[in-house]
Amino acid sequence: MATGNAAATPRDNWGSKLGFVMAAAGSAVGLGNIWKFPYTAGENGGGAFVLIYLAFVIVIGFSVMLTEFAIGRHTSRAAVGSFKTTDRRWSFVGIIGVLSGLLIMGFYPVVGGWALAYIPKVATGLLDNPQDIGESFGGFISNPTQPLLWMAAYFILNIVIVSKGISGGIEKAGKILMPLLFLILVVVAVKGLSLPGASAGLEFLFKPDFSKVDSHVVLAALGQAFFSLSLGMGCMITYGSYLKKKENLVQTTGMVVGMDTAVALLAGIAMFPAMFAFNMEPAAGPGLVFVVVPQLFAEMGHIGLLFALMFFIGLTVAALTSSVSLLEVVVSYLIDEKGMKRVNAVLSASAVMAVMCIFASLSLGGIGPKLFDTGVFDIFDLLTDKVFLAVGGMLICIFAGWRLNRVDLEKEITNNGKIAFPLFGLWYNLVKYVIPVAVAVVACAGIISGFESGKGAIMVLAIAIIGCSALISKKL
Ligand code: TRP
Repeated sequence: MATGNAAATPRDNWGSKLGFVMAAAGSAVGLGNIWKFPYTAGENGGGAFVLIYLAFVIVIGFSVMLTEFAIGRHTSRAAVGSFKTTDRRWSFVGIIGVLSGLLIMGFYPVVGGWALAYIPKVATGLLDNPQDIGESFGGFISNPTQPLLWMAAYFILNIVIVSKGISGGIEKAGKILMPLLFLILVVVAVKGLSLPGASAGLEFLFKPDFSKVDSHVVLAALGQAFFSLSLGMGCMITYGSYLKKKENLVQTTGMVVGMDTAVALLAGIAMFPAMFAFNMEPAAGPGLVFVVVPQLFAEMGHIGLLFALMFFIGLTVAALTSSVSLLEVVVSYLIDEKGMKRVNAVLSASAVMAVMCIFASLSLGGIGPKLFDTGVFDIFDLLTDKVFLAVGGMLICIFAGWRLNRVDLEKEITNNGKIAFPLFGLWYNLVKYVIPVAVAVVACAGIISGFESGKGAIMVLAIAIIGCSALISKKL
C-alpha cells in the first residue's frame, strides 16, 4: 500500500517525521474543517457546540488517534489486516471502516467537485457581482448536470493519484499548498474581522449559550470531531502502520490534532464575523464557504481575485489529500484481502463510489429517492459522522483496551520505555472504559432525539447495517 510510502522510505530523522505528520495532517485537514465545521457550528447554535467539540477533540479525538497510530504501528497492517492478524473475530471492525470509507466517498467528491468548479468560476468573473454569489451557488448545486461533471473531474484526480500510489506529487503539492491555504485563511479572517458588526460573529462562535444544547448537538460535535480528525474507520491505523519504530507517537498525535483544530477554528473565525457583517443567517447550511468567502474577496478588489483563486485551489488540494486517504482504505482492503491488482481495485471502488456520488449530487436538486424526507446526500452524511465513525471509534477503543495487552501498548507508545508518557495510565483508562461508554451514551441519546426529526430511523438503519456487516464479515 502506498499511502505512507513517504513515511516508510528511509530518510533522515527529521525529514521522515515531517513527511509522516504532513501526510496524516493532509488526511485530517480537508473539507471537514473548512466546509463542514463552520456550517455545522452555525446549524448547532455556535459557541456551546464549539466548546463541546473542542472538549471531544482533546479528550476523545486525541486518545483515539493515538490508539489508531499505536494499533497500526504495532501490527504493521492496514485497517482490516490489523484486526485480522490479532484476532479474526475482530476483522468486522476493519470491515465497518471500509464501509464508512465507501459511504463518505459517496458524497465527499461532490463537494470536492464544487471546490474544483469554483476555481474557474472565480477566474471568470464570479466576484464581479457580489450580490449574485449566493444565488449562483444555489443554482449551481441544484443544476442536474454541472456539478456531476465537476464531481467526475474531481474523481478522476483521485483515481490518478491513488492508482500511482499516494507518495508522489500530491504530497508535495500538499506541503506547499496547505501552509498557503492556512495563510489565506488568516488573510480572510483579518479582513472579516475588520468589517463593521464583525464582533457579533466572534461572539456567536465563542460565547457558549448552553440553552441551545440538546443531545443532537452533542452528537453532532462528537461526529464532527471524528470526521475532522479522520478517526473511527482505520484510516489512521493504516497511516500508523508506516510509521517508524523510533518516532514519537504521542508528539505526532499532538501535532496532527493541533493542526487540524487550528484550521477548523481559523475557518470559523474567517467566516462568522463576515457573515454577521453581511447579515447572513448563521445556519446557512452547506453553501457557507462557497458564498461567504467569495463575497469577502469581492470586497478586496484585484488582490481579492488572486486570493480567491489561491483559496479554492488550496481547498481543492486539501480535499484531495483527504479523499485519497479514504479511497486508499477501501483500495488497500481490496488489494490485501481480496488479492486485486491496484488498478482494478481503484477502478472498482471508484465505480461504486461515483454512482453513490451521482445520487448524492442529484438529491441536492431535489431529484432522486428520499428516505424519511431526507435526500441521499444528507443520508450519507448522517450515517457516517453520526453513526459509523462513532461506532467505529468506540470499537477501536474496545479492541485496544480489552483485546490488546496493556504492556504491549505501553511498549508501543513509549518506544520500549525510551519515551516518557506520564499520562499513559490516564490514556489507557480513557480508552478502556470512559470513551466506549461516553460514545455509546452520546450516540444513543442523539439517535433517540433524532426520532423527533425523522432522522432517528435512518440512524437505526445504520446500526442495522453495522450489525449485518459484522455478521457477514465473519464469513469473509
Ligand atoms: N478528515 C477529512 C476532512 O476533514 C475527511 C477524512 C479523510 C475522513 N479520511 C477520513 C473522515 C477518515 C473520517 C475518516 O475533510
